[in-house]
Amino acid sequence: MIVLKLGGSLLTDKRRKFSFREEVARRVAREIVQSGVELVVVHGGGSFGHPLAVEYGLAEGISRDEQLRGVALTRGAMTRLNLLVVETMIEAGLNAVGVQTSAIAACEDGELRRLELAPVRGFLELGITPVLYGDVVLDSARGVCILSGDTLVAGLAQGLKPERIVLAADVDGVLDRSPAEEGARLIPRITPANYREVLAALPSGEDATGGMRRKLSELVAIAGKGYSSVIVNAMVEGRLKKALLGERVKCTVVERGDYR
Ligand code: IPE
Repeated sequence: MIVLKLGGSLLTDKRRKFSFREEVARRVAREIVQSGVELVVVHGGGSFGHPLAVEYGLAEGISRDEQLRGVALTRGAMTRLNLLVVETMIEAGLNAVGVQTSAIAACEDGELRRLELAPVRGFLELGITPVLYGDVVLDSARGVCILSGDTLVAGLAQGLKPERIVLAADVDGVLDRSPAEEGARLIPRITPANYREVLAALPSGEDATGGMRRKLSELVAIAGKGYSSVIVNAMVEGRLKKALLGERVKCTVVERGDYR
């Protein structure tokens, strides 16, 4: 089984609120079906989750009543995006079901503390593909927090012990500088030997969950538990399918190892 994260910037246009990239999602769903691999899917928030989470300051928790509206709106937006993703997968021929992350996860001061995996396991055993997502979840210290899809991937990996972890993005992988800068080059392999150097060159993220920097630190934590992962550009036709099948493809591999 593979844990696949579909990045929010792949599925949505981050420059426009609530813009679902239907064509991209359709092709991604087709490549998943063609690969024929068993999957647990997690998707990000993109322009559905992040603008609202930032607007209402939800990553820091709840300290003002107005933020309750933000919780409701952000959860609602994520439910809508999840439905769009699941419907696209169903149309492509996949038996996919949405699983509401905030109903099975709980945090403490921003750290994932509880993840009820029975529904995920149950659907998998039936041969159905569970589709979870980054979400607003209850937090015993802050009221709520934003659980990123990447943190969720780490939690799922620990509980489900997948063969592989694949992160589908809208960039070729981890680059040696901001993708906006000219001459940015792909780093094909990240290991404990080059990690710090790579991290130092990454721009700090500005979305609700910290962009590529945060993503990489999650992947490194997973790598420390024995799971390597692959970041692949799913905007380029065919690459996701290859990554799912474990074939050679342009990507960044985060090798397993001790990154402390
Ligand atoms: C964020 O999930 C979820 C919300 C903002 C509610 P991610 O952090 O995994 O989303 P992307 O992939 O970066 O868009």
